[in-house]
Amino acid sequence: MLIAGNWKMFKGPAETQDFCGALRDRIGPGAVEVAVCPPAVSVPVAVGALADTDIAVFAQNVHWAEEGAFTGEVSASMLAELGAAGSIVGHSERRQYFGETDETVGRRTVRALESGLRVIACVGESEEQRESRQTELVLRLQVESLRDAVGDHDRLVVAYEPVWAIGTGKTATPEQAQEAHAFIRGIIDVPILYGGSVKPDNAESLLALPDVDGALVGGASLDVDSFVSLCETAGRTTS
Ligand code: PGA
Repeated sequence: MLIAGNWKMFKGPAETQDFCGALRDRIGPGAVEVAVCPPAVSVPVAVGALADTDIAVFAQNVHWAEEGAFTGEVSASMLAELGAAGSIVGHSERRQYFGETDETVGRRTVRALESGLRVIACVGESEEQRESRQTELVLRLQVESLRDAVGDHDRLVVAYEPVWAIGTGKTATPEQAQEAHAFIRGIIDVPILYGGSVKPDNAESLLALPDVDGALVGGASLDVDSFVSLCETAGRTTS
């Protein structure tokens, strides 16, 4: 079970220091793996503040080249040098606003894994795609492209995040989540996180599902109390 907090473009270094300082005192070693994913500029502070804990630090994006003329990008080896354990790849906001495609998601994932990082690769359908009954088709294309790029890699995690549930307060029903996770599991055999408006009050029913191996949490990961509460819920669900 992995609970990962995707901070998106929130928390610079000073806020990261405060948050991680508070978090490290409240999360002990346990059955649940915990990760925070700060903006790239805050990764070194998070790594420092969480040193000697089991809490991992992930970036939110990583480039496919070792180095080069790619203004604004960060390479996997640079992240590894900072002490990041891994990176999110292919979040729907990157697909929506920054032209990320299944091909570039695959390339980023390959390089990150080759560099020894872990990867949380995000997939999920839009509201329009779900309404036009294309969910399975979309998931198949996204997940097969990942599988063809890297296979069932032991440092790969997939996050199923229905785009219509991200930041909207709408969550997939447990039935919808279980159905999508089982479908994904039929294509690739790696842990699968659910993401999309996961909050302390809906986490239990989602985390208890047989094919849900954790959560990728946006909004509710920005507050220490709610993030700790989610980790505790995950701990109870696992035991
Ligand atoms: P949310 O975001 O929990 O705020 O819906 C999830 C995500 O984007 O990873």
